[in-house]
Amino acid sequence: MQDIMENIEYVMLSKEQIQSKVQEMAALLNEKYVGKNPVFIGVLKGVFMFFADMVREITVPCEVDFMCISSYRGTESSGQSVVKKDVSVDLKGRHVVILEDIYDTGNSLDFTYRYLLSKEPASLEVCTLLDKPERRKPGITLVPEYVGFTIPNEFVVGYGLDFNEHYRNLPFVGVLKPEAYAK
Ligand code: IMP
Ligand code: MG
Repeated sequence: MQDIMENIEYVMLSKEQIQSKVQEMAALLNEKYVGKNPVFIGVLKGVFMFFADMVREITVPCEVDFMCISSYRGTESSGQSVVKKDVSVDLKGRHVVILEDIYDTGNSLDFTYRYLLSKEPASLEVCTLLDKPERRKPGITLVPEYVGFTIPNEFVVGYGLDFNEHYRNLPFVGVLKPEAYAK
């Protein structure tokens, strides 16, 4: 029988490590957003698992919404993004928190941040589970207010993150065996 675990070289962040980090980050948000009725916006698809875990730890009244952007990656350096699915909540005057899976080159998050800022929220903060600072593109200056784990420059899968749309369902963040890329 085929098993997706066969392709995992090692687990970088276990389910338990992620769970305790999620609780830690949600506690900060619960404190900060008392009485503010925040809107949590998830950037699909990678964030779906982190998003679901985070909002279940949120104890203040809030709303949730999603957007989907796609990146043209003809060349690595010229990542241009476009909105594929917009948010449906009117963000004007609202307290908005972007939830992201990973801050990598920064193209997506930088685009999302500027796009949502144009909707004139009362405040806009960024919460990312993972940060890979070594990959950051020059000129990207955004500093997320909440970072779960700073990780080395390795391609990771699981907990929402994919390689060719696979591995998103793994409950941990792991690194693939080199042979998995050839399949
Ligand atoms: P960016 O390079 O910061 O614009 O990241 C764009 C998107 O690439 C992220 O939202 C992820 O969906 C994906 N991505 C970046 N690094 C990884 C990784 O290590 N594994 C899986 N997906 C990644
Ligand atoms: Mg992806």
